[in-house]
Amino acid sequence: MNVSLPVLDRVEAGDREEFREAVLAGLSRTPRAIPPKFLYDARGSELFDAICELPEYYLTRTETGILADCTPELARLAGPGCALVEFGSGSSVKTRLLLDAMPNLAAYVPIDISRHHLDATAARLRRDYPGLRVEPVCADYMALEALPADVNGAPRLGFFPGSTIGNLEPHEATAFLRRARTLLGDRGAMVLGVDLRKVPQRLHDAYNDSAGVTAAFTLNLLRRMNRELDATFDLARFAHDAFYNPLEGRIEIYFRSLAVQSVAVAGRIFTFAEGERVHTEYSYKYDDAGIAALAKSAGFTIDRTWTDPARLFAVVYLETAP
Ligand code: TRP
Repeated sequence: MNVSLPVLDRVEAGDREEFREAVLAGLSRTPRAIPPKFLYDARGSELFDAICELPEYYLTRTETGILADCTPELARLAGPGCALVEFGSGSSVKTRLLLDAMPNLAAYVPIDISRHHLDATAARLRRDYPGLRVEPVCADYMALEALPADVNGAPRLGFFPGSTIGNLEPHEATAFLRRARTLLGDRGAMVLGVDLRKVPQRLHDAYNDSAGVTAAFTLNLLRRMNRELDATFDLARFAHDAFYNPLEGRIEIYFRSLAVQSVAVAGRIFTFAEGERVHTEYSYKYDDAGIAALAKSAGFTIDRTWTDPARLFAVVYLETAP
């Protein structure tokens, strides 16, 4: 029956089924958890863009500042004629800083799971950089086996900004970097953005902004379940809950039930205890030793680390270890 639907509706039906299964499985397990990727529906992506502009959310601003300063040196390290490969390109805003500093790229290869994002980004970049070959790859970068054959000859420079590496658990971060190392090849290098450990209050504030945008981002997941899975979450009876766990070196993000309550989701009933949390995401913070250990575990060496003066954030240039 699905085959008679137009392509976009078919994709949506598939997405909805995946969402339903993930939510039912996640709410059935102890402790409860829903995979982070479902935070990013259209509204969630908008709210996330708004988070990046918040005064408390220093990450985006700080990383962009570091990149703006370090691109000349970065371009020298990479050398001319390499292919720039971005893992999870989204709207590729930070990428432009690299593209501007590296006019002689063999190609730009954005990898993104969202066809829509990917096509829109590729069209904009082709317009703004007429001389640049843009070779988009629609794929989950956690599972990608190979790059397009026509960038085979060029040395490859990977780009993974935004401290997205911190949203992976350490064993997943190592697995991701190993895969990246394989994709990038023996002459490959990688530019990685990493949020650094710091005074816990500063971290706490970044994920608990005073305007409540981060809370809206978390609670949007409940709205999405109400809309797409016929759920009955009362948004007034759940709260965003994010805090720094110093033992694990990570921000933990949940939604928390404010009362004992039962909620219907896709025809099933789930009962929440008062104070019960449902996990949505981690954001690991690294120190220098942690970054070094991570790089080493995946077969990279650290060639150069750039930070802001306050050492809030690091941009790291990794090379494949021989
Ligand atoms: N990688 C970023 C971070 O960990 C972005 C992010 C992911 C985020 N999930 C979030 C930001 C939830 C705020 C709230 O900070």
